Amino acid sequence: MHLTRLALTDFRSYPELSLELGPGVTTFSGPNGEGKTNLVEAIGYLATLGSHRVATDAPLVRRGAERAVLRAAVTGAQGSTLVEIELNPGRANRARLNRAPLPRPRDVLGALRTVLFAPEDLALVKGDPGERRRFLDELLVATAPRYAGLRADYERVLRQRTALLKSAGAKGHLRGAARESMTATLDAWDAQLARAGAPLLAGRIRLVAALRPHVIAAYEAVSGGRSGESSGMSYRASVLNDDGLDGAGGAGSGADRGQDADVPGLETAMLKALAGVRPSELDRGVCLVGPHRDELELFVGGLPARGYASHGESWSLALALRLASFALLREGREDPVLILDDVFAELDEGRRDRLAALVADGEQVLITAAVPADVPDVLAGARFTVSASGVVASAG
Ligand SMILES: Nc1ncnc2c1ncn2[C@@H]1O[C@H](COP(=O)(O)OP(=O)(O)OP(=O)(O)O)[C@@H](O)[C@H]1O
Ligand SMILES: [Mg+2]
Repeated sequence: MHLTRLALTDFRSYPELSLELGPGVTTFSGPNGEGKTNLVEAIGYLATLGSHRVATDAPLVRRGAERAVLRAAVTGAQGSTLVEIELNPGRANRARLNRAPLPRPRDVLGALRTVLFAPEDLALVKGDPGERRRFLDELLVATAPRYAGLRADYERVLRQRTALLKSAGAKGHLRGAARESMTATLDAWDAQLARAGAPLLAGRIRLVAALRPHVIAAYEAVSGGRSGESSGMSYRASVLNDDGLDGAGGAGSGADRGQDADVPGLETAMLKALAGVRPSELDRGVCLVGPHRDELELFVGGLPARGYASHGESWSLALALRLASFALLREGREDPVLILDDVFAELDEGRRDRLAALVADGEQVLITAAVPADVPDVLAGARFTVSASGVVASAG
């Protein structure tokens, strides 16, 4: 699929912007701080309903404005679609598809699919496990939008169960009937949590198994395949009590070999794990097992990437995760839009050329660069200059 038009009102630094886009490569260049990343951030938001830079919507609305409006015309296998999102920080956002209002913004997911790589992705390798869980869940939603609902359900049940654990823990002295009734209530919430968690867990386990070969190949391609530099990843599921340590070899832990990824089996495993940790959960007032406690472990050269990998290795691995996502999403389906924010400046010439060769045939590739000369020639295409006077098509 590809975008044919992007229009923004009061998004970030743009009071008003309208841009015609075509398939193939488009490069946005211009000085620092002039709005290149703002542009691609808007496109990413239209696809995922989230920014790759901030967790809340408020910074996305131009300072002094009350709301922002993002619009994109998308051409794909299904014909042309008009996607619109209105950001109302502090109030409900609204989404429209082909001008028809949608019941919930998340119903717009799937209309535009993107893979966005940005310098912030270094956090995928160096940051907390939550960064990697979010990566997996966003990719799951891109593969199948129904996961957005599954994830929202799980988070809702998790919040409610955690609140109950806290209040139950505070009433640790309960005796007799009161205690029995509290136990029954917790049992019911365990069942709900397991029911909501199992499909999410199954989806993640299957996703990691499908993604792994792509990550290994992409890392090798980006790093030039130097020996001893191979990458690996494995999913460590807190409910499966699996040590997941053989992931570096690429075989994966028992958790992500696939045969464990059946939903009823995982639901049972989750119930069992919840029963096992009940006393500690009551003590601590937190929910100790479930997809929200899992880890996607990453390895470079057999060592955990987090804490061991060099800056360059971490960067290549983060890039490999996004390139692998792109490869996975385009398998047997139309290409998502590939967005590379500021990637070339960080790479040496060999890595630049190899990356360019990997992405050059994408249906639509949007690139930002402060210095246009950093972008290899094979990625020649449409060019825009982004500056204080606007976003202007440039010659060459
Ligand atoms: N909500 C907002 N309202 C007004 N201006 C904003 C808002 N959010 C960000 N900006 C401005 O947008 C600019 C940053 O734009 P952006 O991140 O797109 O730059 P860039 O062209 O990608 O720069 P670099 O080359 O350094 O990556 C900053 O000057 C910032 O002040
Ligand atoms: Mg930028």
